[in-house]
Amino acid sequence: MSSDKVLVGVIGGSGLYHLDNLTFIKKVEVETPWGKPSSPITISALPNGSQIAFISRHGPHHTITPTEVPARANIAALKHLGVQAIVAFSAVGSLREEVAPGHFIIPDQIIDRTKGIREDTFFRGDGVVVHSMFGDPFSGQLNAFVAPRVEKILASTDVKLHTGKTVVCMEGPAFSTRAESIMYRQWGGDIINMSVIPEAKLARECEIDYTLICTSTDYDAWRVGEAPVTVEEVVKVLHTNAGNSRAVAAGILEEVAAHVEAGELTEIRGSMKFACITRAD
Ligand code: ADE
Repeated sequence: MSSDKVLVGVIGGSGLYHLDNLTFIKKVEVETPWGKPSSPITISALPNGSQIAFISRHGPHHTITPTEVPARANIAALKHLGVQAIVAFSAVGSLREEVAPGHFIIPDQIIDRTKGIREDTFFRGDGVVVHSMFGDPFSGQLNAFVAPRVEKILASTDVKLHTGKTVVCMEGPAFSTRAESIMYRQWGGDIINMSVIPEAKLARECEIDYTLICTSTDYDAWRVGEAPVTVEEVVKVLHTNAGNSRAVAAGILEEVAAHVEAGELTEIRGSMKFACITRAD
C-alpha cells in the first residue's frame, strides 16, 4: 500500500545529510510563519512508492548550531506537508558503560537541560495559554513499532540497540564538564545530545508521532582516567554511524509509512484538543 501523501518525515542529524535507496521527486523550499527550515525539504519515494520528506537538522553543510536550529520552522514545514510521523536521527554521547560508541539507542524519556533560550512552543505571545501533554515525550506506539525492526536490521552486525533509555538534552555548544556528566548519570541520564529539545515538544504540539533513533559517538566526560569527549573523537565515529543509520532508515521506512497510512498511530492524535486553557469569552 502506498499513496501520494507525504506521511513520514525524517530529520537527519550530525553526519546524516541524505538517505539511501530513494527516488528523488523534488526539493521544496518552504517559508513558514517561523522562518525557513534548516534545509530545503527533499521529497523522495521509497521503493514501494510511499513518499517521505527529509530535512537536514544542521543544514546540508552542517552550518547551524544546535542552539540555532529553526526547529519551529522544521516541524511546521513537515506538518504543512501532511507529515504524521517523524523519524529523527541524532548523534549522542554515552553516559553508560554498556552503551558503547557505535551503538544505537531509542530513548523513551528526556531530561531537558537547555537554557530556555530556544523557541520551544508555537503558542507564545498570541494571547493563548496552551499546555501540551509531554510526560511521555516520544511516541510510545512509534517507538514500539520501530525498535524491533531496527533490532532485526542490526542483528547481523555487532552493533547493539538499547531501548528504554533517558536522553539528556544540553544547550552546548561546549560539551559537559566532568562534574555535569557525573551528575547526569546520577539523575538517571543514559545518553546526551543537544538536539531533541525543542524538536520533540514541537512535534507533540503538532500531534505528530516522534521517535528518535540515536547513535553513540563517545563516552562524554564522566569516565575517570579517560580524556573527555572532543569533536575529533565524535567525527571519527560519525561516518560509520551515519552509514548504519542510512541502512536502518532504508530498512524501516516503508513499513513505517504503511503503518502510518493504515492509521495505526492513534495515541498522539487529538492530544492537543483540550490543551488550550484560555477562556473563549
Ligand atoms: N553529541 C554527541 N556526543 C555528545 C556529547 N558527549 N554531549 C552532547 N552532545 C553530543
